Formats: sequence, C-alpha cells, structure tokens
Amino acid sequence: MTTKSLKVFAPATVANLSCGFDVLGCCLDTVGDEMVIALTQDPNVTITKIEGADLPLETHKNVAGVAVEALLRQYDQNIGATIEIYKKIKAGSGIGSSAASSAGAVWAVNYLLGRPFTKQQLVSFAMEGEKLASGNAHADNVAPALFGGFTLVRSYHPLDIIKLNTPKDIVMTIIHPQIEVKTSDSRSVIKNKISLQKAIQQWGNVGGFVAGLCTNDYQLIGRSLEDVIIEPLRSILIPEFEKVKNIALEKGALGCGISGSGPSIFALSKGLQVAKNVAEGIDHVYKKTGLEFDIHVSKINTEGVKIIL
Ligand code: HSE
Repeated sequence: MTTKSLKVFAPATVANLSCGFDVLGCCLDTVGDEMVIALTQDPNVTITKIEGADLPLETHKNVAGVAVEALLRQYDQNIGATIEIYKKIKAGSGIGSSAASSAGAVWAVNYLLGRPFTKQQLVSFAMEGEKLASGNAHADNVAPALFGGFTLVRSYHPLDIIKLNTPKDIVMTIIHPQIEVKTSDSRSVIKNKISLQKAIQQWGNVGGFVAGLCTNDYQLIGRSLEDVIIEPLRSILIPEFEKVKNIALEKGALGCGISGSGPSIFALSKGLQVAKNVAEGIDHVYKKTGLEFDIHVSKINTEGVKIIL
C-alpha cells in the first residue's frame, strides 16, 4: 500500500568541466527528467513505470532501484518504494542521465521519510546507481544533481563533497550529437598513468577553476577550462569536436570541453546572449555533419533535485 508520494525534477549535469575528471560537476536548470516516487509499507523497491527510454524495470538492474535500495537498507525500517521515471535525458548522452535517475530517486525517498540523511549520504547512495551504470562509482554527476550549482569531490575515501559558488552570469551551452557513447567505453580509452608534467598542469587548472568560481573571476574560469589528460584521448570519439570548440571560443565562450564522458560538448559563457551566440555558431557547424543533434542553453540550477507539482 502506498503511503505518500512526490513528483520531482531530476536535473541533467555536466561532469569533469574539462580539468576536473571525476571531481568537478555542475547542475543544469532546464534539462532533466521527472520522477514520481512513493513510499510503501511493502518493504520492496519497485519500478512501476518508465517512459521515454528503454531501460530495465527490474530493480537490481535499474540505477534508481539500486540507489533507493541502498538508502532503505541503511534506514532499516521495513519500508519500500515505488518509482515512476519519465526520461527526457537520453542514456549515453554525457549529461548525467543515470545520475539524474539515481539522485532524483534517493532525494525524493529521503524527503518523504522526513530527511533522515544528509546530502552527502544521499550522494553515496546515488553512487551505487553510477556503479551499476558504468562499473565505476563516480560522484561528479550525482553530487551536483543533489547539491545544485558547482560541486567538487574533494575526496572519495572518505567522501567529501564541497559545494562551490555559482557566479551569477554563468550560462551553459550544450550540444548533444545523437550518438551514444557508453561511459564504460569512454573510460576504457583513458590511460592509468600520466606524466608529472601533465598532472601539474591539470591540478593548476582545477585550483584556478575553483578560485575563479569563488571570486567570480570569469576570465580565470575560462583560462582554467583546459584538459591536457582526458580530452585528447576522448575527443576522437566525438565528431567535429575541434570545430565545435573553435567556434564556441570564437563566439565568445569562456571555455569549451567534453561534457562528462561525451558525446555532449559543453561551453561556459558569461551572460545569456553570449551563450545563445555560441549555440548559434555550434548549430551552424553541426548542421554540416548531417548528424542529428540537440542544443540546450541553460542557466545553472543552484538547488539540484526539486519538487514539481
Ligand atoms: N567523470 C565521469 C567520466 C563522468 O568522465 O567518466 C561520466 O559522466
């Protein structure tokens, strides 16, 4: 029997933000899924409906299912849940499709239970979903989905999530070429060892990016959006990546890079008008490829998962 239910917006997210592989991410405002979650006295987690995507209904194969199971195991009160998922974010798009489902589900269940868990604990439950989706429990999508804004995973062991400042004029442009790149495949092209020289460049950029957000220094944010480790390896999986990056910068973007594990590409701009100009420029370039694609312009959602009516 159902006791209480809630409808939530589960936002898309952009992970890595060029320099911060597996540690940086941010939450989008206008792109995301909807979910309806209810608590039940039957102590099982059941996925009752999925619309908009061909995803498994079996709880142990569904990212939202395993994330909620992890939460309810810890809660240990013989309560269950039902989950309806209305997918708008395509799987394998690189804007945190699996994270939206895991984060949205655990956030809603926690809310219905009277918020017994902190956001950081919710991140660790939602990471179970990421582990199922990609074989790796990365937190750089679920953290911004749950905390909102920009987040830094300062440490995985122990988990330490830091919510960063969101400069008020920052706007995201995202192009999603309609090809699927599985996170697990995209992770397999990455090398396990890197040179000290590249590490120095990369951690300098992570520090610069975080400092830029904290001080609202847009130029510093732009200079720091550089990835000397992952982007050179992954960009070959994305058609016309270099052309998109060049046009985005030409149109005034602060920086541009691969969104999460791709194939989506993000650009950060100062101001809505610049972000729209960037979108127009990318649209022009991408139309020539003959590939289907979507482009979104989105402000940063500083709240994360939220209740909708
Ligand atoms: N940090 C992860 C990766 C994000 O780049 O593989 C996946 O969206």
